[in-house]
Amino acid sequence: MEFIITDSPMDMNVRAAALIEDYLRADPACVLGLATGTTPIGLYKKLVDDCAEGLVHFDQATTFNLDEYCGLDPRHQQSYRYFMNKHLFDHVDIDKSKTFVPEGINKDAHSVCASYEQAIQAAGGIDMQLLGLGSNGHIGFNEPAEAFPVTTHQVELSDTTIKDNSRLFDSIEDVPRRAYTMGIGTIMAARSVLVVAEGAHKAAIVKEAFFGPVTPQVPASILQFHPCVSIMVDPAAGAYCKEYLTNR
Ligand code: GLP
Repeated sequence: MEFIITDSPMDMNVRAAALIEDYLRADPACVLGLATGTTPIGLYKKLVDDCAEGLVHFDQATTFNLDEYCGLDPRHQQSYRYFMNKHLFDHVDIDKSKTFVPEGINKDAHSVCASYEQAIQAAGGIDMQLLGLGSNGHIGFNEPAEAFPVTTHQVELSDTTIKDNSRLFDSIEDVPRRAYTMGIGTIMAARSVLVVAEGAHKAAIVKEAFFGPVTPQVPASILQFHPCVSIMVDPAAGAYCKEYLTNR
């Protein structure tokens, strides 16, 4: 596990984008796993700027997003499909038919989840999975639980997540109660993983997830067992972990 405390949020965005661009340059047809949330917005902006300058291309890449709210139409401004179009896909040279987000509007959970796993397999698996970190340690929408869910599944969102994410909706009542998410097994099967976390409100969970016990109560803690994981945090999110850093 590589644990890097970057110099600033901007430095984190630049370094995280550089790592993703390394994968795209080494294999332009690589399969990227992508995340939503506030944290990756800056790094997506960097990817957009670098693509505009011709420094990186997405035209052969395939992407799979981690998760989607159940019941939200792709045109809903808080849907993760809308988020990805707005922050990345509409501004880079990607073939949108090769960008996958779980079909939140489809109520047939079994079919949505099984076909998502099949599509990932058919693409050859995920080369590089980007992750944010929920304040309760969730990754994707894998909430604290008694066991690690393996494959893509439907989840009941925790009260913490509903409250955290309500800032983006008109009211807390508007936050969907369910989501589709890749499972922990889906995420762990990615050949490499990059986690980004930013802000003082993430400092405690960063320490707990990456330097505490591995437990399904802190879903991100399983990443301690991943053979190729980089964690990049800004100084505020890394405040309790200075003794662990592997900066080079
Ligand atoms: C959502 C997403 C997660 C994301 C998390 C953290 O719940 N499902 O994938 O990591 O939010 O978001 P933020 O970066 O806004 O703190």
